[in-house]
Amino acid sequence: MKAIVRETYGPPEELQWGTADEPVIGDDDVLVQVVAAGVDQGVWHLVTGLPRAIRLAGFGVRKPKNAVPGMDVAGVVTAVGAHVTRFRAGDEVFGIGSSSYAEYAAVPAKNLVAKPANVPFTDAAAVPNSALAALQGLRKGDVQAGQRVLVIGAGGGVGSYAVQLAVAAGADVTGICSTAKTDFVRSLGADDVLDYTREQIIDGGRRYDLILDTGGNRKLRELRRALTSAGTLVIVGAEVGGWRQGIERQLVAMLLNPFIRQNLRSYVSGPNPADLQALADHLAAGTLRAPVDRTFPLAEAGAAIQYMRDGKAKGKVVLTV
Ligand SMILES: NC(=O)c1ccc[n+]([C@@H]2O[C@H](COP(=O)([O-])OP(=O)(O)OC[C@H]3O[C@@H](n4cnc5c(N)ncnc54)[C@H](OP(=O)(O)O)[C@@H]3O)[C@@H](O)[C@H]2O)c1
Repeated sequence: MKAIVRETYGPPEELQWGTADEPVIGDDDVLVQVVAAGVDQGVWHLVTGLPRAIRLAGFGVRKPKNAVPGMDVAGVVTAVGAHVTRFRAGDEVFGIGSSSYAEYAAVPAKNLVAKPANVPFTDAAAVPNSALAALQGLRKGDVQAGQRVLVIGAGGGVGSYAVQLAVAAGADVTGICSTAKTDFVRSLGADDVLDYTREQIIDGGRRYDLILDTGGNRKLRELRRALTSAGTLVIVGAEVGGWRQGIERQLVAMLLNPFIRQNLRSYVSGPNPADLQALADHLAAGTLRAPVDRTFPLAEAGAAIQYMRDGKAKGKVVLTV
């Protein structure tokens, strides 16, 4: 089959459009004919092998274990493993696999849900990793109707879903982004949008019950000044470079948390069928939209990853097969 392939960790431009063996499915897997595949920061980390610590987490120490990269996937089931009863050939599905940048991908059935008929494959492929991170991050922050919520990085992959889901939860949402993304963030339903390149977003005046931080790596001290006295900060992550990837901020937050009234939290998101189904229901009902900025042909996966990495994407980037 045609696929994006690599032999070593390296920059996205080194990804090649080549061939790979069609995957063999296990008893609990589904073979999906890929129609669209999503791009997110997680893919960049697994393509580059950075920070190096992730290579020790089972992805391959010297070279990537999976020759074909890619996680988010939407497509059509062509075969199912012996234990799989939820799907059959012909079903349209979306979810999270481990080598989705190819014509076919073997995906654990538990990481897939049915794609709503009224949702295009390109939209469905833009959802899994980023929207799960947003949903689970807001849950970590115990978002409530009527709360004042600040989403930092509101124009990015996770942030653009977080704004919509927080609005749907009945919160009063402020989105933080750069100038080029302000109209986009407003279009997601944010009640207020602040451009961090033009104004001081943490000024000691505005206070929030919940801050979801997806970009900028601001100091904890600064973020706490923007929280109410019992407010909650949820650290999603930040692209800061270096081997630590800003992890020290999360460690300090964890150590400090028991001694202060504010809540400082972090988490690792993951596929969970109930959450994927909740997102599918939101998409079907139109209470959530997949903000697809741009699609690229699968053969141009390297360029697509770099486009996201350069901060150009308003929302999500998707590959089409
Ligand atoms: N904890 C978890 O389980 C989990 C799950 C998924 C992702 N993550 C991490 O969360 C982070 C966000 O992921 P993503 O996919 O949403 O990335 P993304 O699509 O690149 O979005 C990040 C956003 O941050 C904004 N940003 C950059 N510098 C900023 C600054 N100084 N102030 C405010 N905003 C700034 C960028 O927008 P502008 O152009 O407007 O600056 C960008 O839109 C990544 O580090 C990712 O690895 C963690």
